[in-house]
Amino acid sequence: MRILVSGGTGFIGSHTTVELIKSGHEVVIFDNLSNSKIDVLDSIQTLTGVKPKFFKADMLNKDDLKQIFEEYKKENKNFDAVIHFAGLKAVGESVAKPVMYYKNNIAGTLNLIEVMNEYNCKKIIFSSSATVYGSPKSVPISEDFELHTTNPYGNTKLMQENILSDITVADKEWSVVLLRYFNPIGAHESGLIGEDPNGIPNNLMPYIVKVADKKIEILGVFGDDYDTPDGTGVRDYIHVVDLARGHVCALNKVVNSTGVNIYNLGTGKGYSVLDVVKTFEKVNNVPVPYVIKGRRPGDIAECYANPAKAKEELNWEAEFDLERMCKDAWNYVKTNK
Ligand code: NAD
Ligand code: UD1
Repeated sequence: MRILVSGGTGFIGSHTTVELIKSGHEVVIFDNLSNSKIDVLDSIQTLTGVKPKFFKADMLNKDDLKQIFEEYKKENKNFDAVIHFAGLKAVGESVAKPVMYYKNNIAGTLNLIEVMNEYNCKKIIFSSSATVYGSPKSVPISEDFELHTTNPYGNTKLMQENILSDITVADKEWSVVLLRYFNPIGAHESGLIGEDPNGIPNNLMPYIVKVADKKIEILGVFGDDYDTPDGTGVRDYIHVVDLARGHVCALNKVVNSTGVNIYNLGTGKGYSVLDVVKTFEKVNNVPVPYVIKGRRPGDIAECYANPAKAKEELNWEAEFDLERMCKDAWNYVKTNK
């Protein structure tokens, strides 16, 4: 299949591109490079032998998007589906700059949908997040749980889910797959692609990696008084390569159905902050000093998926364990020093 990948030079998009190419698909990427680098394309080529066609395009600019579809239309070609990763994703930044988040994520997605409609490409896989479950009533979390968001980033994810669902009601030709990711971490085992946030990271694994690399002195553990086995927050960490493979499995679903299909992509296992710290130290033989701090506002005690629906309907399940995730995250940093 010919797949248009928005945000394809980003963390999850680049890993998904590798898996798509390895599965025999043709990938065309567009990205505005606001949070990724063009060099990623060379790494993808090294890993797959194929350099995907790339458009530097901003989804806020409809003409940028039309140009991509137009180029293929001239050759009587179209995309079989779009996988839509492009977006801004930092929760704290979204609280400080809500307009920027709503504009980029919502207006950008509306532009993409309009252009897809215009060129009669009506199959899309969308990167949603477990953030749409807010503070769940229980764990593990199934897809039919109540949805509730607590910050502008989460609001944009839920709004995009609703917009995409609404268009399938209005036009029965549309097919939408919403993938709700839990906590993606790790990197490709080669160390050639991975996650490299600018500045001080917000999320646990990038922070641990900076501490291990002695770029930051100490990790603050946000609370040890939660109702969890060791008192620290529990999350469903998933290897980014497993997540990427989930998209390859979801492709068959999106092209062979209509309407909306929703899947959790998680492992179904919860690990605490201290589990992650200790596993990272053990497998990489490197110290990660930490200090217990107060709870981070907005955090919940436990969040992990019931991934049964993805297994049953997509024939997908996560394979890599926490040790492998920690190993690959560290290998990426060491390889790129
Ligand atoms: P990322 O920032 O590495 O990738 C997103 C890409 O989108 C970047 O390369 C960026 O340059 C591009 N982009 C942003 N705005 C754009 C625009 N207007 N036009 C064109 N390109 C644009 O992030 P990621 O971690 O790979 O996340 C991918 C998607 O998955 C995002 O939508 C994110 O919200 C979602 N998601 C991520 C996580 C996570 O923890 N990483 C969890 C749940 C959901
Ligand atoms: C984050 C996002 C959420 C997104 C999810 C999946 C935030 C606030 N939330 O959630 O929108 O859907 O990732 O990718 O960014 N922790 C520490 N010290 C740190 C950093 C984190 O103790 O320096 C703890 C947190 O309290 C939490 C766990 O580590 O218990 C994981 O945190 P993080 O990686 O930020 O992910 P989430 O909060 O689950």
